[in-house]
Amino acid sequence: MPNAQLAAGNVNEQVDALLKKMTLEEKVGQLVQYSAGFATGPSASNLTYDDLVAKGQVGSMINVVGADKTNRYQHIAMEKSRLHIPILFGLDVIHGDHTTFPIPLAIAASWDPEAAETVARTSALEARADGIDWVFSPMVDIARDPRWGRIVESNGEDPYLSSALARAWVNGYQQGDISRPDSVAACVKHFAAYGAAIAGRDYNATDMSEITLRQVYLEPYRAAVEAGVATVMSSFNSINGIPATADPFTLTRILRKEWGFDGFVVSDWGAVAELLNHAIGADGSTVARKALEAGVDMDMEGDLYGTTIAAQVRSGKIPESVVDEAVRRVLRVKFAMGLFNHPYTQPGPAYAATPERRATARKVADETMVLLKNDPVEGVGTLLPLNSKAKKIALFGPMADDPQDLLGAWSAGNPSDVITLRQALQERLGDRLLYARGCGLLTGNDANVLKHVTFGGPETAIENEPIPDDKTIAEAVALAKQADVAILALGEPTNWMEGEASSRVHLGFTGSQEKLLEAVAATGKPVILVVLAGRPLVLTWAGAHVPAILEAWSPGIEAGPAVMDVLFGDVNPSGKLPASLPRAVGQEPLYYAQLPTGRPAHGDLSHMPYNSEEKFLSRYLDEENSALFPFGWGLSYTRFRYSTPTVSRAEAPVGQILADHQPVTRVGVDVTNIGSVAGTEVVQLYIRNTAASVEQPVRELKGFARVQLAPGQTQHVEFPLGFDELSFYNVDVERTVEPTTYDIWVGGSSLATAETSFKVVE
Ligand code: NOJ
Repeated sequence: MPNAQLAAGNVNEQVDALLKKMTLEEKVGQLVQYSAGFATGPSASNLTYDDLVAKGQVGSMINVVGADKTNRYQHIAMEKSRLHIPILFGLDVIHGDHTTFPIPLAIAASWDPEAAETVARTSALEARADGIDWVFSPMVDIARDPRWGRIVESNGEDPYLSSALARAWVNGYQQGDISRPDSVAACVKHFAAYGAAIAGRDYNATDMSEITLRQVYLEPYRAAVEAGVATVMSSFNSINGIPATADPFTLTRILRKEWGFDGFVVSDWGAVAELLNHAIGADGSTVARKALEAGVDMDMEGDLYGTTIAAQVRSGKIPESVVDEAVRRVLRVKFAMGLFNHPYTQPGPAYAATPERRATARKVADETMVLLKNDPVEGVGTLLPLNSKAKKIALFGPMADDPQDLLGAWSAGNPSDVITLRQALQERLGDRLLYARGCGLLTGNDANVLKHVTFGGPETAIENEPIPDDKTIAEAVALAKQADVAILALGEPTNWMEGEASSRVHLGFTGSQEKLLEAVAATGKPVILVVLAGRPLVLTWAGAHVPAILEAWSPGIEAGPAVMDVLFGDVNPSGKLPASLPRAVGQEPLYYAQLPTGRPAHGDLSHMPYNSEEKFLSRYLDEENSALFPFGWGLSYTRFRYSTPTVSRAEAPVGQILADHQPVTRVGVDVTNIGSVAGTEVVQLYIRNTAASVEQPVRELKGFARVQLAPGQTQHVEFPLGFDELSFYNVDVERTVEPTTYDIWVGGSSLATAETSFKVVE
């Protein structure tokens, strides 16, 4: 279906009229993007682009930020180039532009598409004021392996949750109308299956069945395309042996022919030239041709399109119609955005973190907090929320007062806007707060291991790190002894050890932080652990020894106030994990929606009646096999009771489901707040197809709802089930529904036990 936003008015006529006037060099120019600011990848070309822009040979620029800078280039394009085609300015606005919100993985933990939409809308507004028309977001790669540092930018492990969020991000950026002055064009990335890099090593190959590709990995991109996303970024990885940047199967057959996408595709940074490293062509001309013909319309920060395509058209190697089609797609976005009429950015007042935006950032951050554990401590009760009995509160850890790392990976914002945890607690507690950093994020050993990294890297970080930490840990222990309770704010260097090119094989806290935690816990003082990280870390020791654990992610500029809101119970936590937390790295990739095995063991979520004393089971022998904290998990300061779910109709004929794609039954459940404080529960619906022609996951999320409940209040929640929820890909790779029984669970996590079922009959 054509994208109404891109076909509005007479966009197509305007595109065709302009195309007729263009020389081959001008056409190819529209397919080229250069980085003219800072680098966000290797070897930025660092040219000055004025001449090329004046010749009409730069379609887009990346990393040029600020109205003064973008307007300068735009004036050259509009005034000096022959056809006055505006430049499209793109930037990685990932979780806010100036107002840095929590990282995308955290926003996914809110299970609140409205929150994602709000973040995107605010980002669009601020980006536009900076001269940016196009953001490289949302990233919707399914991420099931936290060794992969880019999990931070994702919506986590689940296609259903990620698809819901993908739609929200796109709607927030584009607002259903990319011609609005406060909308930006979104770019869903990285197409496709980038998150399945083998062994979690960034840029590595992916290899999977077409069924898994479609049923799991492609779903969120499809959701973004259905929401009208204007552009798509191809990914660095290969898929089943074909680099995604030269893959006609995904870029043309699926994206354009099946899904009807009519925006344009940009490569990732330098990825066209990197096809040479993938060894699918002997020279630049060959790989550029492969990328263009596969469906990559724009070459990001590379000059292979710019230097090889025109000659190949002239020699007859590439039909000019292929170039024309790519140019049409790029121009369509520029016309639809209204850039020809409004190419410049009005310089506005200097950005300042307004109280309204800060309040929004805090509210979003509040929703992202996941209370992992809150066990009662003997003689004290549960530690959270903190009450007035705790006279002296000690705060430790390198994340407690580190503005840059609290912003998180890929943040465009300013660390000076961040309110740290230490600052927030200081203001609230005055001299009731005792503080010591305790240790750094790195030790000397980490520094050695990481010394080869240069991008945004450890040189600076290491200089600031105290080495060794024994003395500072001893000081923290002494201080802990004077306190009633200790809060430890621990994590990893989010700013440069998470995100792109940030894979890790150890998923513990970096440096001496675990030592600090264990030393403070050994004092016998009650300990609250606040985890500030952009990926699931292994919290196994803490899970066994620390009574209260809060997963706070990288919360952005309102980090301190948001964590404090939850610690003191001003906000009742409602976040739920968007990705499983493992007990050991060796379990990865670990996700709840596993396919069944013939020899399931307890704890692998399959609920099969196998005796765990049996030897021949699909399991690891040296660790419990379940997640330490599973997908969907998150506690509250109240408790919720679920009724036994019911179905409005117990069965439906397969023909009806296939024919009208409408919901055929509704799963209903009553959720009651049985505690004494108000709370929000994320009610989750899981299904299992118990007899399919192709085996299906042991559980799959197929619905969720955030429900706010006063103490004692009950709410009835309903989830529709129809073709969208019940279908799967059969051996012919067609989406279908077959006669079967679905087991259905509703509850507050992927461990939900309240159960019903539904039958699909002949
Ligand atoms: C590489 C990253 O993979 C991508 O997400 C980003 O948008 C580009 N660089 C541009 O910075």
